[in-house]
Amino acid sequence: MADYTEIIKQIKELKKQKNAIILGHNYMDYGVQLVSDFTGDSYDLAVKALRTNADIIVFAGVYFMAEQAAALNQDKKVLSPDPNAGCSLSDSLDVKTLKEFKEMYPTAPVVLYINTSIYAKALADYIVTSSTAVKIVKNLDSDVILFGPDANLANFVEKKTGKKIIKVPPNGRCLVHASYVRQFVNLARKKYPNALLMAHPESPLEILEAADFVGSTNQMINFAKENPNKEFIVATEIGMINALKIQVPNKEFYPLISTEACACARCPYMAMITLEKIKNSLVNEVTEVKVPKDVAEKAKEAFERTMKLLEKVS
Ligand code: 13P
Ligand code: SF4
Repeated sequence: MADYTEIIKQIKELKKQKNAIILGHNYMDYGVQLVSDFTGDSYDLAVKALRTNADIIVFAGVYFMAEQAAALNQDKKVLSPDPNAGCSLSDSLDVKTLKEFKEMYPTAPVVLYINTSIYAKALADYIVTSSTAVKIVKNLDSDVILFGPDANLANFVEKKTGKKIIKVPPNGRCLVHASYVRQFVNLARKKYPNALLMAHPESPLEILEAADFVGSTNQMINFAKENPNKEFIVATEIGMINALKIQVPNKEFYPLISTEACACARCPYMAMITLEKIKNSLVNEVTEVKVPKDVAEKAKEAFERTMKLLEKVS
């Protein structure tokens, strides 16, 4: 394993000097997770961003996550170590398409997955994540929902809630999870007969139906901690194995598919965030993520409305 000692020491020192925190997504490289003040799934990190007293937030995740943190914290400096770290899901929904669907279904609530641009979020009624999508849709006072951009998550939500889910756009996909096929599961089950299968809901239904547990990255960590089983196959981005190894050290985790077998195992955007770029971010205070005030306020309203509903129904 690479030796991160020196750069981690430097980053920790910089954080102290600048009253900065690092929020790291569960898919980050091992060293990035070690240097993060908080690691988590996209919902958890969005809430952490809202509650921090730090002056600077370095978002070790893809750009839409940093953008969300910037919208929630207009008075703080939010830095993206690499603003080119996009997301195939976020890229699949543009504002024009969303407006057209809203015109077609004027009474349907708009529920957007957090993997969207802040401009799309500003047009949403609710902003959900993989851990909250089913709960929110179930508790909305409408049987027809506009939901985007992940078609797989939309299918899962439809199955769990029985509501009519209109997909915006019809075919939004995560390039990692959408590549999973049932054959991957058959092979992994054969190789690891004692392991339980945990799957992320961005995966196709045929994977979710074969899984022992479906949940967000944080929910997978909790499931692995609480379940007495010792081995788990992990059907999500391969960086997740780092989070599981750090947080559940006494158990074994196997990726559904390795990077040798399929490039789809690693998200190319998540992989763009490195310790060197985080250090550069702190030293030069780059790249600051700016969101126009009116857009940020609308997106924040949708996020807060979602949090309120979650508190009410939990
Ligand atoms: P989580 O919210 O479950 O961490 O998922 C984020 C993501 O980008 C999945 O690909
Ligand atoms: Fe986007 Fe998929 Fe990468 Fe997550 S894993 S950031 S959904 S492309």
